[in-house]
Amino acid sequence: MKLKSEINCIIKEAFQKAGIEIQTVMVTEATKPEFGDFQFNGIMALAKTLKQNPRELAQKLLPHIDLTGAIAKAEVAGPGFINVWLHPSWVARKCEEALQDKRLGVAKHENPIKVVVDYSGPNMAKQMHVGHLRSTIIGDTVANLLVYLGDEVIRQNHIGDWGTQFGMLIAYLEEQGSSGSGSLKDLEQFYKEAKVRFDTDISFANKAREYVVKIQSGDQHCLNLWQKFIDISLGHCEDVYGKLCIKLTREDVKAESFYNEDLPNVIEDLIAQGLLKESDGAQCVFLEGEEIPVIVQKGDGGYLYATTDLAALRYRANVLGAKRICYVVDARQSEHFRQVFTVAKESGFVSKEVRLEHVAFGTMMDKSGRPFKTRDGGTVKLVDLLDEAVIRAKESIKDKENLEPEELENLAKIIGIGAVKYADLSINRESNYVFDWDKMLSFEGNTSLYMQYAYARIQSIFRRFGKEIKRRIVIGDEIEHRLGVMLLRFEDMLYRAAEDTAPHHITGYLYELAALFTRFYEQNPILKEEVCEETQMSRLALAQLTGRTIKEGLDILGIEVVDKI
Ligand code: ARG
Repeated sequence: MKLKSEINCIIKEAFQKAGIEIQTVMVTEATKPEFGDFQFNGIMALAKTLKQNPRELAQKLLPHIDLTGAIAKAEVAGPGFINVWLHPSWVARKCEEALQDKRLGVAKHENPIKVVVDYSGPNMAKQMHVGHLRSTIIGDTVANLLVYLGDEVIRQNHIGDWGTQFGMLIAYLEEQGSSGSGSLKDLEQFYKEAKVRFDTDISFANKAREYVVKIQSGDQHCLNLWQKFIDISLGHCEDVYGKLCIKLTREDVKAESFYNEDLPNVIEDLIAQGLLKESDGAQCVFLEGEEIPVIVQKGDGGYLYATTDLAALRYRANVLGAKRICYVVDARQSEHFRQVFTVAKESGFVSKEVRLEHVAFGTMMDKSGRPFKTRDGGTVKLVDLLDEAVIRAKESIKDKENLEPEELENLAKIIGIGAVKYADLSINRESNYVFDWDKMLSFEGNTSLYMQYAYARIQSIFRRFGKEIKRRIVIGDEIEHRLGVMLLRFEDMLYRAAEDTAPHHITGYLYELAALFTRFYEQNPILKEEVCEETQMSRLALAQLTGRTIKEGLDILGIEVVDKI
């Protein structure tokens, strides 16, 4: 349920009844329990415009606040805040309703839109590495979240499959003959070897250059080899997607090469708009107030990353019909996206209403604050990293009793992969991210394991209880009240995360929820004999709603839960 709007409405009504005009009312969550559940702090600004004393204005409003529904008590505090307490029985009823609902009371968008989420985007010449890990994990969550809220999401994997380096790779692939596919297992190595051949053997280099021309002019033999290379290379990425339970499929791949045919049109259309200028032989768009232009065609006729992105943008807006396009790409490309978005809007390639967003993220660092590398300074391969996560997860749970070897194996996968994903999602995406095994696999703190553990603990309560529960909630004390309110905040939080494309709102919420549940469970026993049935049922219902909320939240993050840890 949209908890905040409910409170906003009541307060807005109070303003109307008091005859005070106000545009919008926006309450915020109270920062301390003694401030109630919500706080309205818009009085100060209003008092300023009305030239009135804020506390007096707040006092005038107070008697008009309806105390028969959601709100039980409202008080003026500080310089003119209004603190609001919710009615325990109202909270209880709303929690019961959420429990009855498959979607826990989370409504879908009233006006769903088509959204393109561009993520992962590995480059085919190279092994997918940690740099693409963040895009893949964050992008998949953003897509899941928008789907959950009812938008029509089109996932797009803008893989880098074009460029002069492919001439070299194809030449090397052919030179290797049928054994080539074997050595392609390690793409990084394959690339290095090809590069050595290219740098040391003139005839090889010439062959590579010939291939570039041939691929570009559509020579079938070369295109076949190229296609074979892409297939194998993409296959490697798909192994990683599989291990990470990422929802990208081949259908979502719209490679750079997909836009090749449209590139000359992009140039022509920019010319027609009067936006192109030649500078040092290159075709450029000069944006207002900027010295460095956006180059869209080099002097030799070659196109650039930006040209392809312009073609992709108009395809997404005009052919796919997207009203919002999210690019989940490294923050180091912000300049590129800012420019491309501006050109796309100025040229009318994309209409003004379409919302273009660079969902930027920071660099992955090691514990000592350096960009994440292997011990010998090479780039870390994703597959190795994920395998290590599973091994480490197994290590951390191997002492748990009564786990069959198969169960242990499965659990290690769920925990290890969950840890890698959660650690990435739980920080503000724009900050750099310090990769720390010990921290991410800890049972304590804001980790997936903590959340999975809280979920498993709730399941064990129900296993021990062993009967159907009545979904009747009576809020008995402050901790139950806070847990109930927290549960009701789920929908607001999801909408905010979707608006800000910020998965860390979800993890932050889940962490608060699980921590609150832990305190509730410590203070308020559920299965002990002295607990009367009504209280027991109510606590069970709160526990069940907590479990389902954690599961739903983790599901959006693409993280699995288990019934037993
Ligand atoms: N292949 C690019 C890279 O590795 C990412 C592609 C992002 N998407 C886009 N439409 N430019 O940097």
